Amino acid sequence: MSEPTPDSPRPAAATPSTSYYERHVFFCLNERSNGEDSCANHRAQEGFERCKAQVKAAGLAGPGKVRVNKAGCLDRCAGGPVAVVYPEAVWYTYVDASDIDEIVESHLKNGQVVERLLTPAHLGR
Ligand code: FES
Repeated sequence: MSEPTPDSPRPAAATPSTSYYERHVFFCLNERSNGEDSCANHRAQEGFERCKAQVKAAGLAGPGKVRVNKAGCLDRCAGGPVAVVYPEAVWYTYVDASDIDEIVESHLKNGQVVERLLTPAHLGR
């Protein structure tokens, strides 16, 4: 695929209406074998499984709706465990099942960001 030139048309930006999924959620499940901390040490697998189950139970799963995926390190380990929701690129730090349930109900179902669970902007690796 050739790079666009200043005179060539740019591809249209992705929007929810043209995306295969309305929202796509990625959970970091990274586990480090060297003993360093990672999201896997903070019940990330449980959070991922809870989110998948709740999205499915709410009838939100599938094309045109929501997809929940595993991810490796997202390089925001200091805020872990983290999950990110696209297309809004909203980052969450969750603690327990009730946090996951709130993200599903508020953001994934009703489009309202859960402000209290936002990963602080300055937290990276
Ligand atoms: S280990 Fe989860 S963001 Fe890096």
